[in-house]
Amino acid sequence: MTNEWESARLLLRCLEARDQHTLKHSLIVAQKAYELAGSLDLVPEDMFLAGLLHDIGKIAMGDDILKSSRRLSSGEKYILNEHVIEGFNILKESAFSYSTLDFCLYHHERLNGKGYPYGVQDIPLEGRLAAVVDVYSALSLPRKYHPKNYKQEEVIEVMLNEQRETQGYDAYILSMLINNVERHLHYGHIHNSMTKTSNV
Ligand SMILES: [Fe+2]
Repeated sequence: MTNEWESARLLLRCLEARDQHTLKHSLIVAQKAYELAGSLDLVPEDMFLAGLLHDIGKIAMGDDILKSSRRLSSGEKYILNEHVIEGFNILKESAFSYSTLDFCLYHHERLNGKGYPYGVQDIPLEGRLAAVVDVYSALSLPRKYHPKNYKQEEVIEVMLNEQRETQGYDAYILSMLINNVERHLHYGHIHNSMTKTSNV
């Protein structure tokens, strides 16, 4: 195992101990980043690693904010948003690649300039990929303030509506994600119907 992957393993072990929800979220981000990387000429293994670590800064957040089941105040949200810089600093000290650092540093930035921590519009490809797969994962998992889980079709609908209103995502990457999710749904339906047929 290379130093990079060994460092990642240790950091993820810390994340697992602190916050299972963020670990689950990071695994989905990593999987989708891996699946989409090839169509963007990015290295899938690098994007998988970056997806695993993009929220690692959350290990520096207190439980009162990280695990709160109430709506956060604006001051608390400000502290939570610091996870981006915290994560970037942790990964920088551990000598991860620029690709991994960019994925982490820009995953909450938006092309309309309304993201954070900097509100920039000039976002590297890794960051634009990160933004799309991060929101996809967040919407796919159960959330504290939402009464029901979204189905995959609903996740896509929510992201498309947001894109129509804000133009915050990279349109090409969003279309790649939609193709990917539809393909998974299609094969899921085929698999289910084959399983039913074989059980007859
Ligand atoms: Fe995040």
